[in-house]
Amino acid sequence: MTRELKLNGKTVTVDAPDGTPLLWVIRDELKLTGTKFGCGVAACGACTVHVDGQPTRSCQTYVEDLEGAEVTTIEAVGADPIGAAVQQAWTELDVVQCGYCQSGQIMSAVGLLSENPKPTADDIDSYMWGNACRCATYQRIRAGVQRAAEILEG
Ligand code: FES
Ligand code: FES
Repeated sequence: MTRELKLNGKTVTVDAPDGTPLLWVIRDELKLTGTKFGCGVAACGACTVHVDGQPTRSCQTYVEDLEGAEVTTIEAVGADPIGAAVQQAWTELDVVQCGYCQSGQIMSAVGLLSENPKPTADDIDSYMWGNACRCATYQRIRAGVQRAAEILEG
């Protein structure tokens, strides 16, 4: 079934029946492979994208529920000033280890800073708890969010 989605500022036409997870549309149909498959059950955060600016698990979001919604993936989040600051901070602090979880971490970090420009360490831990990192880069993630907040403060 053909349908239109708004993704990364463009309208794209995809062939996906009801019940297709957004993650498969992004990766398999649109070949945007920055968004990762981890658990498939909304438990790890690797697949996090933004839907209308909110961090959302794309493995448990279905195409039929996205009519009129704006989806943003890691490939486009740097166009947003908060996204650019988070990416800069991640690079400065070498946050990434294997990298598998990190696009999801960045999408969640951008969501956090959009709501709370000066998060404490506890705020970060509580907002980001659903984004698992098997390399345990949590301390660098926390520092990265705080560095991004500094960059945004100017
Ligand atoms: S793959 Fe979606 S939360 Fe793990
Ligand atoms: S950097 Fe390896 S899983 Fe997070």
